[in-house]
Amino acid sequence: MSQIKGLILAGGFGTRLRPLSCSRPKLLFPIAGRTMIEWILSGLSENGVNMAILATNHMSDAVRKHLGRKFDGVKLSYSLEYEPLGTGGAIKKAEKFFKKNEDFIVFNGDIISFPPIREILNKHVSNKAITTIMLHKVKDPTHFGVVELEKSTRILNFIEKPSLENAPSMWINAGVYIMNTKTFDYIVPNKKISIERDVFPKIASSGKLFGHKYRGEWFDIGRFNEYRKANSTILSRISKSKPMIFKGTKINESADLIPPLSLGSDSIIRSNVIIGPNVSIGKHVVIGEQSKISNSILFDHVIIGRNSNVRGAVIGEGVVIGNRVRIQKDCVIGDQVYISDNVALKNNIQICPHKEIKSNLDNEGVVV
Ligand code: GTP
Repeated sequence: MSQIKGLILAGGFGTRLRPLSCSRPKLLFPIAGRTMIEWILSGLSENGVNMAILATNHMSDAVRKHLGRKFDGVKLSYSLEYEPLGTGGAIKKAEKFFKKNEDFIVFNGDIISFPPIREILNKHVSNKAITTIMLHKVKDPTHFGVVELEKSTRILNFIEKPSLENAPSMWINAGVYIMNTKTFDYIVPNKKISIERDVFPKIASSGKLFGHKYRGEWFDIGRFNEYRKANSTILSRISKSKPMIFKGTKINESADLIPPLSLGSDSIIRSNVIIGPNVSIGKHVVIGEQSKISNSILFDHVIIGRNSNVRGAVIGEGVVIGNRVRIQKDCVIGDQVYISDNVALKNNIQICPHKEIKSNLDNEGVVV
């Protein structure tokens, strides 16, 4: 492919992923043994893209420190905003990285998808588009940007988060774009601008906004249930029939590992533990005797005692869970939380970082 560059929007606050996004950007959330940004970059690398710019602000040092200057053959540069400039402002800020009349690919940093980049680029060029938006079909488009299409390619109208009655179609903005540098002409510099609300409608009215219908897998990990679904899908691609186990991990021979499953490095799995399916476990994790973990994501440095049961939850970094603890579906446990022996957490409870939980929690909601 002619050398197309990638631009990754990495500076959002991830409010819908609190409390775990309070201490790390969404791009550093783990999925199946890697971080979100590493999956995006290796997808770019597989498509022959070897240069990417990361538009960062919030906690950007963490992303820069994590990735450095190169990942999987993709050379990385950083475009740093001192104030969040919104999706449009962040794209404009990166203008200096591109030549005049260059096409480039933009990714929202919270989307997992497998776009046919070459095919979209070819269509974008033959349409003489200013921007081509990858589109995904959903049943409820009301949380997304929705398009009205002419002959299934030209976008006549782009409406951000319409009511169901006002949604012109079920095709939504999938958060992946091919842009020509002419897009920059539609964005005022140094201002907070939304590409979805302020820019796409204007390009649509000039007749130069196009769409590409994408029918592959797509997840917006901006919400916890989608984050866990993305984790399961990627796990089934990489460890469908065999657990993926990183170096230095010790597993007692009586443990039952049910794929798909990824087990981070230097972890300890004790006797009669059952892990899986659909479990991602980070580095330096300890799972005590007879505990069971399924459909869950455990960040690094988690310690779980004996006879505990975690089902369908996301467990933050450094969490300590005692013996005989029950954690049910859709719970999210913030970093460094301590949960005492015998505690049971019912469905859909979120616990803020550094809390100590000593008794059962029965009501769904946030514990601050
Ligand atoms: P929520 O607060 O949960 O809505 O998440 P978010 O702040 O990440 O917003 P949203 O999901 O709409 O953002 C889409 C993409 O744009 C994500 O990859 C964000 O990281 C990114 N993004 C959003 N706002 C900014 C910004 O001001 N600057 C930069 N560089 N990226 C942004």
